Amino acid sequence: MKHFAIVPGDGIGPEVVKVGTDCMEALCEISSFDFDGELFNIGGQRYLETGELLTDQDISDLKKKDAIYFGAIGDPRIKPGILEGGILLKMRAVFDQYINLRPVTSWFPYVPLKREVPFDIHFLRENTEDFYMGLGAKLRKDNGYRAEIGVKRESYDMGFDIKAEPSEDDEYSIEVGLLSRKGVTRFADYAFKYAQARGEDKVTLVDKANVITNNYGMQREIFQQKADEYGMKLDFMFVDAMSMAMIVRPETFGTVAVPNLFGDILTDLGAQLQGGLGMGGSGNINPHGLSMFEPIHGSAPDIAGQGKANPIAAVLAAEMLLDNQGFPEEGRMLHAAVRHCLDTMQVTPDLGGKLRTEEVGKAMVDFILNQKK
Ligand code: NAD
Ligand code: IPM
Ligand code: MN
Repeated sequence: MKHFAIVPGDGIGPEVVKVGTDCMEALCEISSFDFDGELFNIGGQRYLETGELLTDQDISDLKKKDAIYFGAIGDPRIKPGILEGGILLKMRAVFDQYINLRPVTSWFPYVPLKREVPFDIHFLRENTEDFYMGLGAKLRKDNGYRAEIGVKRESYDMGFDIKAEPSEDDEYSIEVGLLSRKGVTRFADYAFKYAQARGEDKVTLVDKANVITNNYGMQREIFQQKADEYGMKLDFMFVDAMSMAMIVRPETFGTVAVPNLFGDILTDLGAQLQGGLGMGGSGNINPHGLSMFEPIHGSAPDIAGQGKANPIAAVLAAEMLLDNQGFPEEGRMLHAAVRHCLDTMQVTPDLGGKLRTEEVGKAMVDFILNQKK
């Protein structure tokens, strides 16, 4: 019996997570897979009521689980950054989920350019460093244009001083993108191992080493060392050219390693290549510890509560969770359920269908139950 934490979160989070958990429950009926899911009330509503984000108690309760299944956080009543940093990014940091795996696969003939070449890109987004560390400060006259820069997130404890020359009555803000040799090395190692396991001989590294030379220069050097170590090829792409190439020749990419911020952006583009944001699943992976699986989309306040949310991304996240937990066959069953709904157009309006979220869920559950041998 597996023990999962279920964190539905805000907006459409609970709607799509319900479909994913219903599908996993259906799998329990037809296979040897079994789980119990404990619901965690973490998100915008609790924050508004209690001021709590991700508490020490939450962390110790989550740590007891085999995996986390997450919906989305984000609430228009709350200033951007509070929930995102205080819950989601904190989870990725405290559980040291340093890889964010985000597959981009062609489910449809590729509509925007009417291309019919299938593609299967696997983005590995570094998930703990870069511009995502909360490392920064406001420099104002009242603090003498001087700031202690320290990392807010738990898995890092470094701190250093930045002294700016006081000038006129102005205000500055800085946000630091930090890469560590240790962080890049483990990321690169994972990327080459991952590509190798997929039978590929190459990793593509996306960066902006022509402008952000310190960070991404070091990253290139470390990736090159790893490529040599593994006897594999390494391609470099600048992120601006990559966003163009993903549209005109997505089929030319396999395993793509990308730093945190660019990875966030490119994978929303990737989701759209698959049909929309409702198609992108993701895994925040700690290869030696607790991982967390979630759709890449957010809480979608514009459609929350209307039955319009496409649950496929959440179901694909559940597939990744099952795969990670040693149930790849059951994972493939979820994949087949998604394929079935797409083939029969039992989908939500974002994909041109007429079904509500829960009706798509029912179609998937029925499909799974029908697979009983
Ligand atoms: P979003 O992903 O929530 O929505 C962007 C657009 O895509 C919206 O028009 C939305 O309706 C649509 N969309 C998203 N998911 C969909 C689905 N499953 N089916 C159909 N349509 C879908 O991004 P946003 O609007 O920029 O952000 C809303 C909130 O979510 C913000 O607070 C943001 O910080 C947060 N957010 C959270 C996560 C997360 O929890 N992992 C991810 C992204 C954004
Ligand atoms: C994602 C989201 C998050 C990110 C936000 C909500 C912090 O956009 O999971 O893609 O930027 O990683
Ligand atoms: Mn994102």
